[in-house]
Amino acid sequence: MSAEMAATSIHSSYEECKETAEWLLNRSTIRPVVAIICGSGLGGLADKLEDSTTFKYEDIPRFPTSTVPGHAGKLVFGKLVGHDCVCMQGRFHLYEGYSIHMVSYPVRVFSLLGVKTLVVTNAAGGLNDSYSVGDIMIIKDHINMPGFAGQSPLCGPNDERFGLRFPCMSDAYDRELSFKLRSAAEAMGAAHFIKKGVYCMLAGPSFETIAECKLLQTLGADAVGMSTVPEVLVARHCGLRVLGLSLITNKVITDYNSEEKANHEEVLKTTQRQTKLLQDLVCGFLKV
Ligand SMILES: *[C@@H]1O[C@H](CO)[C@@H](O)[C@H](O)[C@H]1NC(C)=O
Ligand SMILES: *[C@@H]1O[C@H](CO)[C@@H](O)[C@H](O)[C@H]1NC(C)=O
Repeated sequence: MSAEMAATSIHSSYEECKETAEWLLNRSTIRPVVAIICGSGLGGLADKLEDSTTFKYEDIPRFPTSTVPGHAGKLVFGKLVGHDCVCMQGRFHLYEGYSIHMVSYPVRVFSLLGVKTLVVTNAAGGLNDSYSVGDIMIIKDHINMPGFAGQSPLCGPNDERFGLRFPCMSDAYDRELSFKLRSAAEAMGAAHFIKKGVYCMLAGPSFETIAECKLLQTLGADAVGMSTVPEVLVARHCGLRVLGLSLITNKVITDYNSEEKANHEEVLKTTQRQTKLLQDLVCGFLKV
């Protein structure tokens, strides 16, 4: 195989994304302008879509399939408070063994469907001492740890039909959308749950060590998780506006004498408790 062929096979081509998009558009009358990626246990939002059409990931040409418990693995088209939406119920993670390009593949498809705004949600560990379990953090910026190690979904040949070779990331998270989310929270009397901070992505699947948590705190990260950043990079590359929300499901451990241990069950329990608030917030946000 030539070097050029090896390079081009890293990620799916524009034509492949187009084929997936066309397949979906052929099977739904919805023309989504908003895409929502639901994090661990937050997939309930997809059930709120009206006039919906649901596709299992395994049935969609070229789509990866999900393997994590709590991730349903469906793409739902429908209307949410009057907006045509597409909702990912279950996302893809690096730790499942997907390439970072596959993790973010759906976002390129969304852009070809006509989506203009991406709402990404995740479950994250709180690094900032002032955060409580159950808070919702509006992501104002991110730290792309896998990127430091050469893992970016934008690596490989650049197709200008998607976006620029060197896209700007200083404006990755849209200020107007974050303002709208906050307004929605205020209108719902939920402003006290809202924080705004920096999300740091690690590849996982192990939770962070104490030394790693301390390091991330000194770097200015407020929450840590194992997703979102690849999707946001691709979304910004193809010109989508992004709103990112982290549900703080646990506080990270930074004390060597602590008897507590990070666990996935705790994450799912908090998620269940706050999932309705997060859903209402996203609906409120779409109404503003
Ligand atoms: C979508 O529908 C058109 C018109 O029927 C057809 O030509 C095209 O092959 C379909 N594309 C896919 C990917 O299903
Ligand atoms: C924690 O969050 C608060 C409130 O959002 C913020 O003012 C503060 O700078 C953050 N602390 C650290 C150490 O980043």
